[in-house]
Amino acid sequence: MSEAGFDAGKFRHVLGHFPTGVAVVTGVDAEGRPAGMAVGSFSSVSLDPPLVAFMPDKLSSSWPRFSDTGSFCVNILGAEQESICRAFAMRGGDKFADLDWSPAGSGAPIIDGVLAWIDCDTEVVHEAGDHYIVIGRVRALDIGTPALPLVFFQGGYGRFSSLSLAAWESDLGVQMRSADLARPHMEALAEELDVECVASAVVGEEMVLVARAGTLGSAKLPTAVGQRIPFEPPMGTAFVAWASDAAREAWLRRLGAQVPADTRSTLEQTLGQVRAAGYSVGRGHRWHSQAAQVLSRDQPDRHRDETAQELHRLIALLPADYESPDIDADDVRTVSTPVFGPGGSVVLVLSVTVPGRRSLGSDLPWTVERLRTAAAAVTKALEGEG
Ligand SMILES: Cc1cc2nc3c(=O)[nH]c(=O)nc-3n(C[C@H](O)[C@H](O)[C@H](O)COP(=O)(O)O)c2cc1C
Repeated sequence: MSEAGFDAGKFRHVLGHFPTGVAVVTGVDAEGRPAGMAVGSFSSVSLDPPLVAFMPDKLSSSWPRFSDTGSFCVNILGAEQESICRAFAMRGGDKFADLDWSPAGSGAPIIDGVLAWIDCDTEVVHEAGDHYIVIGRVRALDIGTPALPLVFFQGGYGRFSSLSLAAWESDLGVQMRSADLARPHMEALAEELDVECVASAVVGEEMVLVARAGTLGSAKLPTAVGQRIPFEPPMGTAFVAWASDAAREAWLRRLGAQVPADTRSTLEQTLGQVRAAGYSVGRGHRWHSQAAQVLSRDQPDRHRDETAQELHRLIALLPADYESPDIDADDVRTVSTPVFGPGGSVVLVLSVTVPGRRSLGSDLPWTVERLRTAAAAVTKALEGEG
């Protein structure tokens, strides 16, 4: 008990339920040597004027080394920088010994590879119990290396995973690397089968085309890298069929709070079929040409929400079993299959689409075979577990 009736352990335990990002606050001492400490108490405070804050312990030995210089730099750590956090959470020693850094405008260190940095002049320091509240006025700030943030929660380190991405875990680094590994396979496939081959990834609430090979000639869907399609049922089963229950639910909920029971059961059945077969399909020409029209209007000056809304309306017209590989249809134009990352999550989906009004017809089994071989090769190169 630190105060009558007050339990310090409980205070720590309860407040440990609030997750924080992690930053290293740096500065230079009177001799120009770099100093710094890990903090979870960094926060933005005000936009006008631009103010941020962090709260150093009064017992910290690092903060007094640069508190008088009137400036500091906040370095926001990425998920891969846990070791930097640990080094800066230790008392004493040369925390910069193995680090590359460069001085911000204030002279305070910007550590190489951080997610973002905020260079500040100290505006005011308040006393608050056993800590200080340091308010800084932002002089300059920028994104460093785009990545996922390092997160601290209940005494442990972790990384951010948005619910909407859930089990197929979005780490754009992994997705882009996978797309690079997939590209030669996609080129070979596109050439050999005279098809268009694309790789897509789930980013937020959309499926984003991250790589493509081959062309669909004049009657092509205007596929372009960066193109987005809403990630909502019945589209995207090749991502969802291998995902966790929570991720499936998140995908199903995109249909609204109340998914009709028969739609839900057809979607679940379709997911089971996709998983069993190892691939999903896309059928028909009409829907494709309507989607193509919407996407071709997706110019930079057009509001992105408009395109998303139109695609959303189009997707709602599709039957719940649209991507089922078990439907006996002679108009299958697209087949899609997952690429797995370490941990078994789907990082990419590879798809082939045949040109014009052609359908895969009797080429379907062979195309699936070739596509799955390519996806397996990329999974292997990623050291993934499928
Ligand atoms: C995730 C994490 C968050 C932390 N947040 C703070 C904080 O907000 N304020 C603080 O004074 N110390 C915080 N610490 C502890 C300091 O990093 C550490 O006590 C201090 O840097 C010790 O070294 P020093 O004496 O060189 O300052 C945190 C440590 C970790 C691992």
